[in-house]
Amino acid sequence: MNFARTFLIYFTIAFMMVLPVHAKDMVLKEPPKSLDQFYPPHSKQPKWTQQMHKLSNHFGGVFINLKEKDFENVDKHADKLVEEYKKTSEMVPEWEEYFDIKAAEAFAAAAKTHDMKKAGKASGGLGKTCGKCHAEQQVSVWTKYHWPSFHKIKVTDPSSEKEVEFDKFMKQISGSFKSMRVNFGEGQYGKAAKALRAFKSEYMELKSTCSKCHTTDDVKRFYVGGDAEKAFQGLAKELNAEKPNPGNFWKNVGLVGKTGCKNCHLTHRTYSMIKEVWEEK
Ligand code: HEC
Ligand code: HEC
Ligand code: HEC
Repeated sequence: MNFARTFLIYFTIAFMMVLPVHAKDMVLKEPPKSLDQFYPPHSKQPKWTQQMHKLSNHFGGVFINLKEKDFENVDKHADKLVEEYKKTSEMVPEWEEYFDIKAAEAFAAAAKTHDMKKAGKASGGLGKTCGKCHAEQQVSVWTKYHWPSFHKIKVTDPSSEKEVEFDKFMKQISGSFKSMRVNFGEGQYGKAAKALRAFKSEYMELKSTCSKCHTTDDVKRFYVGGDAEKAFQGLAKELNAEKPNPGNFWKNVGLVGKTGCKNCHLTHRTYSMIKEVWEEK
């Protein structure tokens, strides 16, 4: 794929969280390398995420304590918020511009008047700095640091018993699936039945990949579970019949395609596509 190094994805945003960004385009850029040090495997803990929890707790802590009229803790949270906000602003040099230390200090000063209205008003300026960065960076960060890479996964091809890269294996499955459909369309049922056998064993081999990322077997109820099993049985039934019923055949093709391929792609492939472009050098 000859995409530009920087991959731009435009989503039409129907609505944004908390604070709106004005453009209706969302651009996904690879997060700066300097963020690596705050996420596994470079650090044991996801330190950036933890830093966010601190900001959020102190920001929220101000309002909770104002409501409780616990002014000693209002002041504590206000000071800690400024301290942690400053600390955060120094973590990733490329992101320094997102921070507005004056807005944080102005909020802390307003909070310390212990007047809820003043604190509320001053929170807007600070809150905007959080919202802008979230709108522009959060999805990229999820993709890069919270999604394992499918490209690194190998699958054992059931016919050759060789290890194949995941995306190559997908192409192979796609080919067997197509071979079955094309031969069926031509009335070559013997060839279609042969393609089905390869297709089914390749498809079910995908089960061995789930545990590379998931810790429970529960997820295998989806995509590679009962629905897929039933669809494969339906296909085999038609292909073994004296006179296959096209309606039943195509219905089961649709089931594999929708509850298998499509649904799995919708959950897993989006992130994989983005990561693939970022990993292209
Ligand atoms: C320079 C960018 C930036 C700024 C400024 C910023 N954040 Fe974040 N924030 C992020 C990113 C990136 C994530 C996603 C982190 C992740 O999921 O690992 C995030 C996630 C969060 C989360 C969710 C954490 C979770 O467990 O999913 C909270 C809460 C949060 N930020 C609060 C705040 C608050 C409050 C402020 C402002 C006082 C703020 N952030 C300012 C970048 C920023
Ligand atoms: C490369 C890593 C990876 C592989 C391989 C993988 N998944 Fe996932 N999957 C994820 C991530 C990450 C999520 C998001 C939430 C999470 O972590 O569970 C997810 C989400 C899901 C969900 C949504 C519900 C949930 O538990 O979050 C299902 C269902 C699912 N996967 C099924 C499967 C099945 C079935 C397989 C094997 C055929 C599989 N996955 C293989 C990484 C993977
Ligand atoms: C376990 C979930 C899962 C299931 C089920 C699944 N796929 Fe995929 N597929 C993926 C992921 C993830 C990728 C992206 C792989 C990558 O980026 O390396 C992918 C990529 C592909 C590709 C592109 C390969 C390439 O060259 O990059 C094709 C074609 C494909 N799948 C076809 C299918 C078909 C056809 C089916 C159903 C018969 C299917 N897939 C079932 C997860 C799945």
